[in-house]
Amino acid sequence: MMLKLYFLGFLIRSFLTIGIETQPAHGSLKPRNVQFQSRNFHNILRWQPGSFLTRNGSIYFVQYKMYGERQWKNKTDCWGTPALFCDLTNETLNLYEPYYGRVKTARAGSYSAWSRTPRFTPWWETKLDPPAVTTVQVNGSLLVLLRAPELPYRAQNGNNTSMENYYDLVYRVFIIDNLLEKEQKAYEGTQRIVQIEGLTPRSGYCIMAEIYQPVLGRKSPRSERRCV
Ligand SMILES: *[C@@H]1O[C@H](CO)[C@@H](O)[C@H](O)[C@H]1NC(C)=O
Ligand SMILES: *[C@@H]1O[C@H](CO)[C@@H](O)[C@H](O)[C@H]1NC(C)=O
Ligand SMILES: *[C@@H]1O[C@H](CO)[C@@H](O)[C@H](O)[C@H]1NC(C)=O
Ligand SMILES: *[C@@H]1O[C@H](CO)[C@@H](O)[C@H](O)[C@H]1NC(C)=O
Ligand SMILES: *[C@@H]1O[C@H](CO)[C@@H](O)[C@H](O)[C@H]1NC(C)=O
Ligand SMILES: *[C@@H]1O[C@H](CO)[C@@H](O)[C@H](O)[C@H]1NC(C)=O
Repeated sequence: MMLKLYFLGFLIRSFLTIGIETQPAHGSLKPRNVQFQSRNFHNILRWQPGSFLTRNGSIYFVQYKMYGERQWKNKTDCWGTPALFCDLTNETLNLYEPYYGRVKTARAGSYSAWSRTPRFTPWWETKLDPPAVTTVQVNGSLLVLLRAPELPYRAQNGNNTSMENYYDLVYRVFIIDNLLEKEQKAYEGTQRIVQIEGLTPRSGYCIMAEIYQPVLGRKSPRSERRCV
């Protein structure tokens, strides 16, 4: 008897749980996973529809503010957009300040509640692209020239458009000997011009580089192979 009751209880609980979990999937309009994605200080707000079923025919409204401000501001370009992203680069120019964004949905005359991002500070969160790599052959050695990614257009009227002005950057250069199919680290340091010596003329070489940010413990993806 006890066992039966217990089992019944279990059934009811399972049933309730299923009911609760499936219900929002039908009608929820509230955008999900609203977050900033940032590369080289290009700050893009992205989100997903409340549910698969509300994807079609939905439009979205975007607001933003700096942490500590009372008023949300409308992002006019993304006011009623059908897209699932909004470029907020120009609205988040202070790289050291935290910002929020938020999004709501309208569909068939109904509005969702706002869905907000976590706090977003460009300096902490932006991800760097790999360095640009140029190679020059000088006699038996190879000169590798590295350039850090640039900030977006917005900074180009000023002089400090290189990421070097905002972070301590460490460059890592890898060399691959095509004959031996062997990769090794040829350099790690802060110089942007690296000379690699003692290369065998018979073999082909490829160079790749990445940027490491010691303070953030983060590295960029590797650059494309540049072969000589
Ligand atoms: C959304 O629209 C596309 C084409 O516009 C259609 O193929 C798809 O079935 C629609 N999805 C839903 C859930 O209505
Ligand atoms: C944002 O836009 C809505 C609708 O156009 C308007 O009612 C509201 O006053 C605007 N808010 C701000 C802060 O401009
Ligand atoms: C940001 O501002 C610049 C300069 O004012 C402008 O050229 C650019 O189109 C703006 N970008 C966006 C996404 O609003
Ligand atoms: C290359 O080697 C030659 C002969 O050893 C030397 O005269 C020349 O200065 C070298 N070039 C460079 C750029 O180091
Ligand atoms: C950038 O800095 C250099 C010197 O470091 C200077 O000659 C140049 O005028 C500056 N450019 C701008 C746009 O400020
Ligand atoms: C450029 O960066 C240097 C330090 O890296 C700073 O002293 C200078 O004020 C900056 N210039 C501008 C225009 O932001």
